[in-house]
Amino acid sequence: MTTLRRMRWWDLATLLPLERAVFGPDAWSAELFWSELAGVPATRTYVVAEDGADLVGYAGLHAGLGEATVQTLAVAPHCQRAGLGSRLLSHLLADAAARGLRTVLLEVRADNTGALALYDCHGFERVGVRRGYYRGSGVDGLVLRRRAAPSAPTIDVSGWSPGRPNPHVDRAIPEPGP
Ligand SMILES: CC(C)(COP(=O)(O)OP(=O)(O)OC[C@H]1O[C@@H](n2cnc3c(N)ncnc32)[C@H](O)[C@@H]1OP(=O)(O)O)[C@@H](O)C(=O)NCCC(=O)NCCS
Repeated sequence: MTTLRRMRWWDLATLLPLERAVFGPDAWSAELFWSELAGVPATRTYVVAEDGADLVGYAGLHAGLGEATVQTLAVAPHCQRAGLGSRLLSHLLADAAARGLRTVLLEVRADNTGALALYDCHGFERVGVRRGYYRGSGVDGLVLRRRAAPSAPTIDVSGWSPGRPNPHVDRAIPEPGP
């Protein structure tokens, strides 16, 4: 059974090789994870997924003023296409809602068709593009947005910049119900 729990600093030893395996040259440094974890729980939610003793996925959210941002989301290659990415994302979306944040933003490589399909499933829409955002490859970054309330006003993301190159739960989180 795969369980979700709060990410801890000591998870980084096993998480960083996975980070490099899934994100390659766009991988975050240990320092960046440290700085993100310093914001938990006030402005950040970070969870890991464990299958027994194996760390097989993780995700992070930044809770800002009026909106949240999915900072990262990853599933180990051998565990992909089994629903874990969707589960991690759902956890972040529920956390944003619990914080009273109905708008969730994220940034994704334009060539990441798998992630784009996942975000589409969860109601994200494309609202912007950052031309050549990924240094080295020159791939565009797409800014996606999900609004819990369809009638919410359009927001300006022109000054938004967390991007990639760039839950506060201490207990195990149960499997989602049927
Ligand atoms: C993107 C990622 C998190 C998805 O995780 P996952 O556990 O494989 O996703 P799920 O199994 O929950 O997929 C849910 C749905 O999303 C879509 N999807 C996910 N990956 C897909 C892929 N590679 N191709 C097409 N559709 C995909 C499908 O609709 C899928 O439902 P289905 O399997 O019933 O068809 C994972 O592929 C990953 O870690 N990739 C590398 C890191 C990354 O790109 N992170 C996102 C950065 S913005």
